[in-house]
Amino acid sequence: MKKLWKNCHIATMQDGQYSSIEQAAMVTLGQKIHWIGSLKDLPADDYVEIIDLNGAWVTPGLIDCHTHSVFGGNRSVEFEKRLQGVSYAEIAANGGGIASTVRATREASEAQLLTSALKRIRCLLQDGVTTIEIKSGYGLDYANERKMLRVIRQIADSLPMTVRATCLAAHALPPEYKDQSDAYIEHICHDMLPKLHEEGLMDAVDAFCEHLAFSPAQVERVFQAAQGLNLPVKLHAEQLSALGGSSLAARYHALSADHLEFMTEEDVKAMAAAGTVAVLLPGAFYFLRETKFPPVDSLHQHGVRIALSSDLNPGTSPALSLRLMMNMGSTLFGLTPEQTLASVTINAAHALGLQETHGSLEQGKCADFIAWEIEHPSEIVYWLGGDLPKRIIRHATEILI
Ligand code: NIG
Ligand code: FE
Repeated sequence: MKKLWKNCHIATMQDGQYSSIEQAAMVTLGQKIHWIGSLKDLPADDYVEIIDLNGAWVTPGLIDCHTHSVFGGNRSVEFEKRLQGVSYAEIAANGGGIASTVRATREASEAQLLTSALKRIRCLLQDGVTTIEIKSGYGLDYANERKMLRVIRQIADSLPMTVRATCLAAHALPPEYKDQSDAYIEHICHDMLPKLHEEGLMDAVDAFCEHLAFSPAQVERVFQAAQGLNLPVKLHAEQLSALGGSSLAARYHALSADHLEFMTEEDVKAMAAAGTVAVLLPGAFYFLRETKFPPVDSLHQHGVRIALSSDLNPGTSPALSLRLMMNMGSTLFGLTPEQTLASVTINAAHALGLQETHGSLEQGKCADFIAWEIEHPSEIVYWLGGDLPKRIIRHATEILI
């Protein structure tokens, strides 16, 4: 069942960075890439189908490696408060913020959460995202974290996307554990994680390391519990203050540390040595009107892979377009269009541990790709939002949305 995809140029992202072939062709077999190269080198063969891509630029399917896209309600009222000058931390301290989404998420049924999440995630798919990571973290008790993780698994059955589920039970302190954060961490480590793992509901474990969430010592306990279950870890680190969470994440060989505005050079070095990916979230940076920039030059200097992601969530980044985040990654953080493209393909694949199968177009990898009607790949970063004309192909089959 070989299919030939021809009349295109391909940004392959081979060798872990931007690379391209003009006048290219690709052969898929089943769901995988069988051959990729210059049209002039295409071996003679029989094809069940020949697809003319009309001179499109082909990239790997985009990967959104950090989202909280399953949640109840929304926080537009809080947005208005923040516009009047109330800070994210103040809102959280007064029972709003994550806690208000926890209330709405606990009230919602699985079916309601699934319906609302699908609406948002369809926007990302339509934008060229074929792989997405989704975190729990608005349930904060066993039943509701389980509910969220079950919905995340159902999303994989409902949309033609690869979905990774991350447990973020250590996102905030639930009201039942007021003033007992150590006891909540114990509960996560000894009750929640083992039970959720038994049901096969998690692919990774994350936590929020911040003054308004959990301390590095508490996060370390969660990491140890995850390690005991053979689950990779990730961390929300250095978003609002420098606590050394990213160095801690590196010590546990985390797949990624995310946000990172307040990270130090020591943290950068530790992440470089561990191969931990830096996931930068320009949506949250922008939406919170953050003024402290993540140390992009230092990350480059020390060879840390940089991924960009939407952080789609109701409080700090209601972002429905990864392409818009790419533009912001270039405009705000100074990534070149080529680095930006790597940040949502091969580097994002590394941030999910999917680099062997996703994130670049190479023989043997998944045939997940986007054929963009553009003249140069930098246009994917250049246009601000909107629906850029494209064909979306997942597992060698075109998706019609
Ligand atoms: O990635 N930093 C913590 N978590 C989310 C925000 C969640 C929320 O405010 O609902 C983030 O920005
Ligand atoms: Fe987040």
